[in-house]
Amino acid sequence: FSNTVKAIRGALLDIQQVVTNPEQLEDSLRYVSDGLLIIDQGKVAWHGRWEDGKDMLPEGLRICDYRGKLVVPGFVDTHIHYPQMEIIGAYGEQLLEWLNTYVFPTEQKYGNKRYASEMSGLFVNELLKNGTTTAMVFCSVHPESVDALFEECDRRNMRMIAGKVMMDRNAPDALLDTPESSYQDSRRLLKKWHKRNRLLYAITPRFAPTSSPEQLEKAMALREEFPDAYVQTHLSENLNEIEWVKSLYPEHDCYLDVYNHYRLTGERSVYAHCVHLTDQEWKVMEETGSSVAFCPTSNMYLGSGLFNYRRAADNGVRVGMATDVGAGTSFNMFETLNEAYKVVQLQKEKLPAIEGFYRATLGGAHSLYLDDCIGNFNVGKEADFVVLDPVATQVQQLRWDNSKALDEKLFVLMTLGDDRNIYRTYVDGRLVYSSTR
Ligand code: GUN
Ligand code: ZN
Repeated sequence: FSNTVKAIRGALLDIQQVVTNPEQLEDSLRYVSDGLLIIDQGKVAWHGRWEDGKDMLPEGLRICDYRGKLVVPGFVDTHIHYPQMEIIGAYGEQLLEWLNTYVFPTEQKYGNKRYASEMSGLFVNELLKNGTTTAMVFCSVHPESVDALFEECDRRNMRMIAGKVMMDRNAPDALLDTPESSYQDSRRLLKKWHKRNRLLYAITPRFAPTSSPEQLEKAMALREEFPDAYVQTHLSENLNEIEWVKSLYPEHDCYLDVYNHYRLTGERSVYAHCVHLTDQEWKVMEETGSSVAFCPTSNMYLGSGLFNYRRAADNGVRVGMATDVGAGTSFNMFETLNEAYKVVQLQKEKLPAIEGFYRATLGGAHSLYLDDCIGNFNVGKEADFVVLDPVATQVQQLRWDNSKALDEKLFVLMTLGDDRNIYRTYVDGRLVYSSTR
């Protein structure tokens, strides 16, 4: 071991491997009640039982003793907007009115680098306070907003994906770029940040209504030039939005056909929402290996509709959990899973706790094509993890004591949990958040 070695002792919980069918999850859950995690140079060097590993620890090494807590991989938030942190909970509107009334006026502030940097700091703190160590993030249309966020994440060596919004119509002038400027700015940012340390760049056309066909062509050109970069956008969130896309792109069969035509589907393409997809669109999602970001608090808050989670998950579509702040109402993954459970319930289906936990960790990583480097405790994985206090409140304590099997306890956590359950957060093997509770 190097001189940066760290030893974490506690109950360890993760999912051993990616599954193609959620029914396989039961066998992939890995729980070590008295476990040891050895971290070296930001990576998992050893994982197993304390008894089996303790003798290989260097003499005199201080052990981080988290017995009584639960150590899990860092949470993955597959879709979030950092400039919208300051408008969470804006009253009364559905998507298109909400964008015009609240989002567009606010995003204009992010052309100011100092302001964007200040907000980036608050944003990343909020992620870490909620145990989220990787997120796929929309910045604003301004390149300054992208530099600000990446600088903040680079300082903490986080595994983060972000990009500059491309938007050349149907928004206030102050927020518009052009096909050419969006191409040049995105390209420059991509070359600067993509794969710099742990950072990754996403080509980010906001959604079809705010991009001209010429701009989507530029996005396609970027994708072709940089095939290992990401694409993030929105798809079929709201019925009025879908009608609008039909009128703006009448020559296309359906909403997804617009993105597909410009070759924006495929591996590392992440579509937020997908609430109202047709069978034909689901087939395209399946065939192209595109991913869905499931945004339950947002979809309920904006009255968008019920995402057909089982349809996606049971057909092998990659699905990750997402908060979608600021349409989403919480940064917290437990609160997001709690809402997801209710969305699935309303469709007379089920979301077991283990599956929720998978979506928030390894499954989310898989949806971002990052399951080779994050998402569980396999040796060699990047050491981003969370120490949970599973009983942070009186009611949680009562309910925890009154449940038996691990999946039942996990379900209680997913239903009653919030940021009070996040005791400590580690990124790249280093402590980056510690609760004062
Ligand atoms: N569709 C286009 N832009 C946005 C956005 O900022 N938030 C949500 N929820 N949907 C969008
Ligand atoms: Zn969004």
